[in-house]
Amino acid sequence: MEKDNIFKLNDVCYDYIGKDRALNNINMTIERGECVSVLGANGSGKSTLLKLLDGLYFCSKGELFGFNEKIDESIMADKQTARAFHKKVGFVFQDPDVQLFLPTVWDEVAFAPLQMGLPRRDVAEIASDALDQLGLFGLKDRAPYHLSEGEKKKVSIASVLTLDPDVWLMDEPTASLDPRSQGWVIDFILELGQRKKTAVIATHDLEIPYVATKDCYVLGQDHGVLAHGPSSEILENDEILLSANLIHRHRHIHRGAAHSHPHKHWHS
Ligand SMILES: Nc1ncnc2c1ncn2[C@@H]1O[C@H](COP(=O)(O)OP(=O)(O)O)[C@@H](O)[C@H]1O
Ligand SMILES: [Mg+2]
Repeated sequence: MEKDNIFKLNDVCYDYIGKDRALNNINMTIERGECVSVLGANGSGKSTLLKLLDGLYFCSKGELFGFNEKIDESIMADKQTARAFHKKVGFVFQDPDVQLFLPTVWDEVAFAPLQMGLPRRDVAEIASDALDQLGLFGLKDRAPYHLSEGEKKKVSIASVLTLDPDVWLMDEPTASLDPRSQGWVIDFILELGQRKKTAVIATHDLEIPYVATKDCYVLGQDHGVLAHGPSSEILENDEILLSANLIHRHRHIHRGAAHSHPHKHWHS
């Protein structure tokens, strides 16, 4: 029987116009219900990869299948197909200021269901549900621009939650958040897993694969897949992490969790 693949990438390359290769021969299979981290240093290609998975960019070479359909420019040019795809696949951008552009928090969470053509009464219910779930109802009349980074991230997540997509793409979801908000985001990813959602999380925060995703892919400096496997094994492999610039020589991995401590050079 054919596997229930959400994404399948065969030798996918992506070149920005006039630039060097941003993704190099990526082979990847994401099955329904899988939560995976895509680890990589800055510039390794994580954001580019998520944009391909979201049908915003298209392969320069190779093939990308979403829900067993080949995703290319011509298929996504069809508005109905693109809309159906984006009902199933939600994207939480790294920078909430890119995601959020409306005058109030309420407008932000009502936007996607309105775009999907749902009746206004349903939209109001869906929007208030999403705000309630994330404890944001009290902020509904506020301007997203004036919120804290953690609150903005929650609003971005709420705006995706309104469509309850089966597939979540999250780009560096813990970046520029304080520890409490980071913890909240990690709990949210764990909940996605418990709800049998599929999630692809691009990050260089090693706590995410440690706590919340069973498997991970590592993108190397050459923009290709350097390693793929259970997070527990990858996080134990200093050679891979060093080579991908995810740790540096003076940082150690203990029991899979990354943390730093003063390094005593006289003590080997
Ligand atoms: N809009 C762009 N135009 C040209 N080059 C880009 C653009 N965005 C990213 N790149 C280049 O593509 C490579 C991968 O970038 P990116 O996907 O943003 O990596 P990451 O998200 O892992 O930091 C980098 O070399 C980067 O400089
Ligand atoms: Mg990025």
